[in-house]
Amino acid sequence: MANSGLSNDLGGILALVDKTYGIDKVLADKGRDLVKEYYAQSGPAYERAHSKAGCMHLALNPDGEFSPEGYRRQPRSIVRELTEMGGTRVLELGCGKGFNSLIVARRLPEAECIGTDLLEDHLVKARSLAAEAGVSNLRYEQASFEPLPDRFRDMDMIFGVETLCYAQDLDKVAQSIAAALRPGGRFVMFDVHALEDPDSLPPDLARATRLYETSMVVTRGFIRAGAWEAALARAGLRPDPTRDLSKAVQPGLRRLQAVGLQALGDWKKRMAVKVMPPYMARNGISALLGPLVFRLPERNRQAVLAYQRISATKPA
Ligand SMILES: C[S@@+](CC[C@H](N)C(=O)[O-])C[C@H]1O[C@@H](n2cnc3c(N)ncnc32)[C@H](O)[C@@H]1O
Repeated sequence: MANSGLSNDLGGILALVDKTYGIDKVLADKGRDLVKEYYAQSGPAYERAHSKAGCMHLALNPDGEFSPEGYRRQPRSIVRELTEMGGTRVLELGCGKGFNSLIVARRLPEAECIGTDLLEDHLVKARSLAAEAGVSNLRYEQASFEPLPDRFRDMDMIFGVETLCYAQDLDKVAQSIAAALRPGGRFVMFDVHALEDPDSLPPDLARATRLYETSMVVTRGFIRAGAWEAALARAGLRPDPTRDLSKAVQPGLRRLQAVGLQALGDWKKRMAVKVMPPYMARNGISALLGPLVFRLPERNRQAVLAYQRISATKPA
């Protein structure tokens, strides 16, 4: 495989990205709202390279080996919390094709689960997967979290997995989440945040970080670490200490990188990428760069991204 030696060679990967996609062309999307185009084009690629079950988030593999079981760790942690608190009313923000809500609804048949997403196409797929699974305590409704509509009230738990990175007005979103929770209710999110300004990094790493976020259409950049906790506190919630899970996403990131290096292995494959829908093709960029842009204590010490679990309680 022509590219197999590149996995830790940031300069080599950036050269490959430039040759295949044109770095300046990709970065020219900075600040544009591309969520709808990105997901309309990327659906088939997600199902092929990521998860046939409709999961669109990173796997958590704390033992250091990739396993698709890792995709289930985020929803399982929601099931655990709901079980501990005896909650039954749960709402997912940005549920995509319903991977997490379906797990929660199956594990807790007595719960009433609602999945919401901006995009109707995702919900169509989510509804058909729920119907196939014969799950009746789960419904899907089109709704943006920006802000969450006020028809949602008295929730025991609201959660979001890799969706709130697209939020723009954190205070409005946090206030709408706080309003939808019952007193004593819980909020949990898993997402990528920037520990520092990526532009303060050495130039190659800064470009790699900007390419990573732009290729996932987080075109305003990842939200700074600490900003959600502050917005949630201003909205009257009590945040818990945030957990850094960057190490647990590395095996999944390495797997995606191997798929990306294989897919761009020779000039014929790179030509194929050039004729794909652009936002689908650019998933190759985040795959190639992912393992290098997250900060780890033992490696990537200068990198600024962190995969975090943030949670908060609405005081009773
Ligand atoms: C990376 S996917 C994650 C999907 C799902 N949470 C999962 O874990 O598989 C991000 C999702 O956020 C949704 N999204 C983006 N902006 C949104 C908004 N303002 N309100 C609700 N959903 C949004 C997208 O449509 C997409 O389904």
